[in-house]
Amino acid sequence: MSAALVVENLGVRYGGVTALRDVSLSVDEGQILTVLGANGAGKTSMLRGISGLVSSTGTVTHHGRTLGRLDAAARARAGLGHVLEGRHVFPDLTVRENLHLGSLLSPKPAEGVERALALLPELEEMAGRKAGRLSGGQQQMLAIARAISGSPSVLLLDEPTNGLAPMLVQRTIDVIGAIQELGVAVLLVEQRVEVAQALGSEVLVLQRGEVVGTAHGTDDDLEDRIHTAYLA
Ligand SMILES: Nc1ncnc2c1ncn2[C@@H]1O[C@H](COP(=O)(O)OP(=O)(O)OP(=O)(O)O)[C@@H](O)[C@H]1O
Ligand SMILES: [Mg+2]
Repeated sequence: MSAALVVENLGVRYGGVTALRDVSLSVDEGQILTVLGANGAGKTSMLRGISGLVSSTGTVTHHGRTLGRLDAAARARAGLGHVLEGRHVFPDLTVRENLHLGSLLSPKPAEGVERALALLPELEEMAGRKAGRLSGGQQQMLAIARAISGSPSVLLLDEPTNGLAPMLVQRTIDVIGAIQELGVAVLLVEQRVEVAQALGSEVLVLQRGEVVGTAHGTDDDLEDRIHTAYLA
């Protein structure tokens, strides 16, 4: 397996506030790495630094290519997909139009939309509806599908299960597993330990902007360890 994404010594500052310090990680093709951390731990800042939405220090390498000089749009075109925190869809566009816009990042846009609908066939029946009319959970699914329609080789997911009902949490877990099966490298940010457990993924624990531990979703004591980190 080869590393699709390598992050070395990533740092993010907002003025005088250090949100992230010296974070290093690597995700292979077809691998899921889950970063668990409490509110304010720096999870979103980490993903934004990687995708170029905020400026950062350190290096980000995508399939051996250093991305330092590329802005966020160029990183997206290069194959870095990013599903932002919250449900960012275009509310006045239909589901299909949202997917079409996402697919423009793909070298073969028509295949991108098909790929997204194959992954989330439940979107097919609402393809003509305005995205703003969908439920929160459906919008979250659409946000994931839109990213997939761009045929990314690396997918950054920012708390995709946040605020979802238990059935949709399970659906999201299944979808992330299916994305992994496509060979995509998935960097998943979560607060829910059970998502990492269900996916059986590698885990990094982020606390106050720094990686304070590594674990595995199948570790028996994962919940206790994360709970301790969240309280610290
Ligand atoms: N635009 C900003 N300006 C100043 N400080 C910020 C900004 N965005 C985030 N921060 C600070 O950076 C730190 C990390 O925030 P970040 O949003 O990355 O954490 P998070 O782990 O994603 O939290 P959450 O679980 O609430 O989404 C926090 O202390 C936060 O207050
Ligand atoms: Mg966040």
